[in-house]
Amino acid sequence: MDELRVDLGERSYPILIGPGLIDEPAHFSGRVPARAAIVTSERIAPLYLARLRSTLARAGSDSIDIVLPDGESAKTWQTLDQVHTALLRARGDRRTTLIALGGGVIGDLTGFAAATYQRGVPFIQVPTTLLAQVDSSVGGKTAINHALGKNMIGAFYQPSLVLADTGTLASLPEREYRSGLAEVIKYGFIRDAGFLDWLEANLDALLRRDPGVLSHAIRRSCEIKAEIVAKDERETGMRAWLNLGHTFGHAIEAGLGYGEWLHGEAVAAGMVLAAELSARLSHLRDADVARVRGLIARAGLPVAPPALGAARYLELMRIDKKAEAGAIRYVLLSRLGEAFVAPVPDRTVTELLQSACAA
Ligand code: NAD
Ligand code: GLY
Repeated sequence: MDELRVDLGERSYPILIGPGLIDEPAHFSGRVPARAAIVTSERIAPLYLARLRSTLARAGSDSIDIVLPDGESAKTWQTLDQVHTALLRARGDRRTTLIALGGGVIGDLTGFAAATYQRGVPFIQVPTTLLAQVDSSVGGKTAINHALGKNMIGAFYQPSLVLADTGTLASLPEREYRSGLAEVIKYGFIRDAGFLDWLEANLDALLRRDPGVLSHAIRRSCEIKAEIVAKDERETGMRAWLNLGHTFGHAIEAGLGYGEWLHGEAVAAGMVLAAELSARLSHLRDADVARVRGLIARAGLPVAPPALGAARYLELMRIDKKAEAGAIRYVLLSRLGEAFVAPVPDRTVTELLQSACAA
C-alpha cells in the first residue's frame, strides 16, 4: 500500500492506494463514527456496496445505504436532494460521515452533500474509477451540474480520507478506464515532463492494466495533484493548470448533452485543442503538439472535437469558472511539463475551432 498526504494544515488527510483496501477495517477504524452513510450508484452497488458495508461494520460503524441513479446526467439538484432526504429520514446528525463509493460523479455529489448537510459533516472518498482515483477524489472540489454549465454549483470541501482500492479497477469498462487515462496523461503535460516520457514508454502496459505500472501511474498522479492542491487549494493560481483541456472539454460535454462523451474523452480532445492553441501563440513547437496528439490517440481517446460550431463553443466557454468579466481564460502549455493561464483573442480561438472541427 502507498500512503500520500494532502498537506492542508489541520485539514490535512491521507490518500491510501493499493489493492483490497475496502476489505480492511483498520483503514476505517477511528475515522468513522458509529453512524455512517455509504452513497453510491445503482451500477456500483451490486459490485462493492456489501463488501464496504461489512468492512465498516467490522470497524464498528453501522452504515445506511444511499443508492442513487448512475452517471453524469444524475449529477443534479434532484439527486442531491435524494441524499439530504435519506439522511434526514435516517436521523443523520452532525457526526454522521458520508462515504462516497464510486467514480467522480458520486464523489463530487457526495462531497457537496457533505458540505451542505447540517452545514457540513465529515466525508470519505472511496474512488472506484481510474479518473476518480487519480483526480476527482483528491483536492476537495465538490459540485453538481446546472443546465447552463458543468460543475457550476458546488463548494471546496475536503474529505478526511481518500481510500483508492486499485482492485476495484478490474471491473471498470474499457471506455471508462481510457477516460481516466486522459487525466493521468494531463499530469505529464502540465507538471512533469519525466512522467510524460514514462507514460510514452509504458502506455501499452498501462492499457493492459499491468498492476505495477498502474499503481505507479496512480501514485505519481496523486502526488502531483496533492502538491498542487497544497499550494493553491482555492484555485487562485496554479491549481487552474489541472484544468488543461477542461474549458474546451466542459463545452463539449454541455454542448452534446452530459453523458454523451465521457468527461475524460472531452478533456482529451480539449487538451489537443489547448496544445494547438499554445502552438498558434508560439509557446509550443509543432513537434510538441504531435507528441500530445500521439499519446492521446495511442490511449484510444478522441483527438478531434465534435463539430458544435465555433460560435457555440465560445458561447458555452464564456460560463467557464476561469472566465473573468466574460473573458475566457485558457490553460496553455509554455512547454511540455509546464502550464500557464491566459486570455486569448476570440478570433484566434475561432480560427482554431474552425480548422479543428473541419478536420
Ligand atoms: P462516473 O462517476 O460516472 O463513473 C463512470 C461509470 O463507471 C459509471 O457508470 C459508474 O457507475 C461506473 N463505475 C464506477 N466504478 C466502477 C467499477 N469499479 N467497476 C465498474 N463500473 C464502475 O465518471 P468518472 O469518470 O469517474 O467521473 C467523472 C466526473 O468526475 C465528472 O462529473 C467530472 O466533472 C468529475 N471530476 C471532478 C474532479 C474534481 O476535482 N472534483 C476532477 C475530475 C473530474
Ligand atoms: N480537477 C481539477 C481540480 O481539482 O482542480
